[in-house]
Amino acid sequence: MSLRDRKIVVTGGPTREWIDPVRYISNPSSGKMGAALADAAAPLARETVFIHGPVSPVLVQGKPYRCVSVSTTRDMLDAVLGEMEDQAVLIMAAAPADYRPAETLTEKMKKGGDEITLHLVKNPDILMEVAERRKGGAWNDLFVAGFAAETTDTESYAMEKLVKKNLDMICLNDVSAAGAGFAGDTNIITIFTRVGSRIELPVQAKGSAAARIIDCIMEAL
Ligand code: CTP
Repeated sequence: MSLRDRKIVVTGGPTREWIDPVRYISNPSSGKMGAALADAAAPLARETVFIHGPVSPVLVQGKPYRCVSVSTTRDMLDAVLGEMEDQAVLIMAAAPADYRPAETLTEKMKKGGDEITLHLVKNPDILMEVAERRKGGAWNDLFVAGFAAETTDTESYAMEKLVKKNLDMICLNDVSAAGAGFAGDTNIITIFTRVGSRIELPVQAKGSAAARIIDCIMEAL
C-alpha cells in the first residue's frame, strides 16, 4: 500500500511541563523539522496531521492539513494515540520532555532560600507506548519513524533506539554538529532502517532533508 492511501501523522516541537502558572520545563526544539516533514508529506498522503507542541504560528497557519496543538508530553501521547489507525505512518520528530514536575503548583512559587530542589517524575515515552500497543496487535501495517537527537556515541544510541522502540526507521541527528540540531534551518541526518539500510543526508535545508526522508519512507513501504 502506497503513501497515497495512508494517513501520515507527524509530531514536532517541544512539550512544556509546568512547574507553576508562570514557569515550565522545556527544550529548544523549534518544530521546523516536523513542519517540513508535514509539508513534504501532505501532497503525497491521503491525509496529513501535524501534532505540535508550542511552536511559532508561522509553522502551522494556513496549512493544507490539520494541525493539532498540544502542551505536555501526556497531551501529545493522547493526541498521537487518537490519530493512529491501520496502515498509518507515524513520524516522531518532536522533542517531548522526558520528565515533568511531580506536582504543578496552582499558585506562583515564591522566592525562598538560596537553593531549591525540584522533584521530577518520568513521562511516558510516546514511541514505546505505540510499540507496546503495536505488539498487542492494535494497528495493522503501521510504519513508525523516530528521530534520535544525540551528542555522543551517536550511531550506537540511534541503533539502540531503533530496536528498543521497535521502529521501522530512525533519523539520527547529531545535535552538536555545526549545521545540525534544534533551532536552525539546516540539518545533517543519517537514516537507518529496520532492514539494515543506511542513507546519509549531508547538511541541507530542513525542507529538502524532509523530502528525502519522505522518499525513503515511500521506498520502504
Ligand atoms: N520520544 C517519545 N517520547 C518521549 C521522548 C522521546 O516518543 N517521551 C521520541 C522522540 O520523538 C524521538 C525518539 O523518541 O523520535 C528519540 O528521542 P530522544 O530524545 O533522542 O531520545 P529519548 O528516548 O528521550 O532518550 P534519551 O533522552 O535518553 O537520549
